[in-house]
Amino acid sequence: MDSIHIQGGIALQGKVRIQGSKNAALPVLAATLLTKERSFIRNCPKISDVYAMISLLKSLGCTVSWEEDGVYVDPSRVQCGEMGSEEVTGMRSSLCLLGALIGRCGRVVMEYPGGCVIGKRPIDLHLEALGKMGVSFREQEGRLCAEARRLRGARLRLPFPSVGATENVILAAALAEGETVLEGAALEPEIRALCGYLLSCGAQIEGVDTKRLVIRGGRRLYGSEYRIPADRIVAGTYLFACVGTGGEVFLEEAPWEDMTAVLETAESMGAKLCTEQDGIYLQAPRRPGAVERIQTSPYPGFPTDLQSAALAAAALGNGDSLILETIFENRFRTAEELRKMGAQLEETGTGRMLVHGVESLHGARVEAKELRGGAALVAAGLMARGETVVTGCRFIDRGYENICRDFRELGARVSCGTSRR
Ligand code: EPZ
Repeated sequence: MDSIHIQGGIALQGKVRIQGSKNAALPVLAATLLTKERSFIRNCPKISDVYAMISLLKSLGCTVSWEEDGVYVDPSRVQCGEMGSEEVTGMRSSLCLLGALIGRCGRVVMEYPGGCVIGKRPIDLHLEALGKMGVSFREQEGRLCAEARRLRGARLRLPFPSVGATENVILAAALAEGETVLEGAALEPEIRALCGYLLSCGAQIEGVDTKRLVIRGGRRLYGSEYRIPADRIVAGTYLFACVGTGGEVFLEEAPWEDMTAVLETAESMGAKLCTEQDGIYLQAPRRPGAVERIQTSPYPGFPTDLQSAALAAAALGNGDSLILETIFENRFRTAEELRKMGAQLEETGTGRMLVHGVESLHGARVEAKELRGGAALVAAGLMARGETVVTGCRFIDRGYENICRDFRELGARVSCGTSRR
C-alpha cells in the first residue's frame, strides 16, 4: 500500500475487531526458536513486520506455514548460521532474535537492527545484560557478532525498563544454565505474552507482571499453542480516531485491562467509555476537551506509541493541551504534517508540545514517516474536513493489518491506492 485517500469529517460509527498485537507476536515468534518442536501461534497479525520476522526464521531453517487462524513454526531444522541482512536492518525487533539464537546456538552474527526512525534507539542495555550472562560481543565489518561458550544465568538490573532488553534477557535465560534474576524489568503487557508462550512450552518463570523476574533456565522446552493477545496500540489508535471524529464505536477484543492510561486520557477528553468482557464501547463528545498533560512513560504510563494519535485528537481540543514525550526524541515528527492540516502545535522545548486546539482541521497531502505517526495521520484525515492523502503508507503496513478496511467498517470513506505523484 502506497497511499491512503480519506474523505474526512464523518463521525466513526459501528464495530471493528482488533487484530493481534505486533509487539507481542514478534518476540513470541523469535521464542519459537528455543524449542525443537513445532508451535502454533494463533491470532498472529498479518503485517509486514511479522512477514519480515518469518522470512528471518525461514532463512535460519524454520518451516513456516500460515493457517486461517495463525501460523505454524517448525524450528526442528534450524541451522546456526548467519542471518540474512536485509530483513534484520529493516526491523528493530529482529534484535530479539539475538537472545533467542544465543540460547539456541550459542552464537549469532547479525546486522545492526533498524526499525522506525523515531530516535537514537541504542542497544547498550541488551549488550550489557547479555554480557553478564556470558555473551561476548565484537563488531566485524559493521556486523554484530555475539558468542557464548557457556550461557549462564545471572543477577541483572536494568537501569531503565527497556522492553526489548527485558525480552532478550528472558529469551537467553530460558535456555541458560541456572537461574537468572532480572530486576527493573519492563512491565509492558507484551512481556507477559512472551512469558505466557514460554510457560506454555515448559519454561520456569516467576514474577510475571512484576519488575522482578526469576527465570530458571536449562530446561527442555516443548512446542506449544499460544494465542497472541489483541493489539492495545491498534485499539488506542482507533479510539483516538473516534474521539477526534465525535463518533461512537465498539472496539471488539480491545484489551482494556492493559489500556488504563489511554482510557483515562480519552475520558479526560470527554469520551464516555464502557469496558466489557469482549471490548471497549466508546462514545465521543462532539468536540474533544483539552487535556492538561499527557506524558509518555514506560507501562503502565501513557504509551509513546499512542502519543501521535492522542496529539491528533488534542489538535481539535477545546483549549490548550500539553504533550510530553519522554521515550523517543523523534516522535514529534508527525507534528510537521499535522500543521499542514491546520493544527496549531508549538514545540516549547525538547519533548514538549503545546497544542492549541482548533475548531477544525482541513484535508491535506501528508507523508507518513514512521509507523505510529503514519496511522495518526490517517486518524487526523478522518477528523479533517475535505480530502486527505497520506503517502508513505508502507510504514503503516508494518503494524496495521488493514487500516483502510477497519476504518471503512466504522463508516469512514477511505481507500488505499497507488500514490499520484
Ligand atoms: C518497544 O521498542 C516497542 N517495539 C516499540 O514499539 C515501543 O515504542 C517501545 O518498546 C516503548 O514502549 C517492539 O516491541 C517491537 P525500549 P524497544 O527498549 O524495545 C532506550 C511500535 O511502533 N534504550 O523499551 O526498542 C531507548 O532509546 C514500536 O510498535 C536504551 O537507551 O523500546 C528508548 O528511549 C516502535 N538502550 C527507551 O529506552 C537500550 O539498550 C525505550 O526503549 C535499549 C533502549
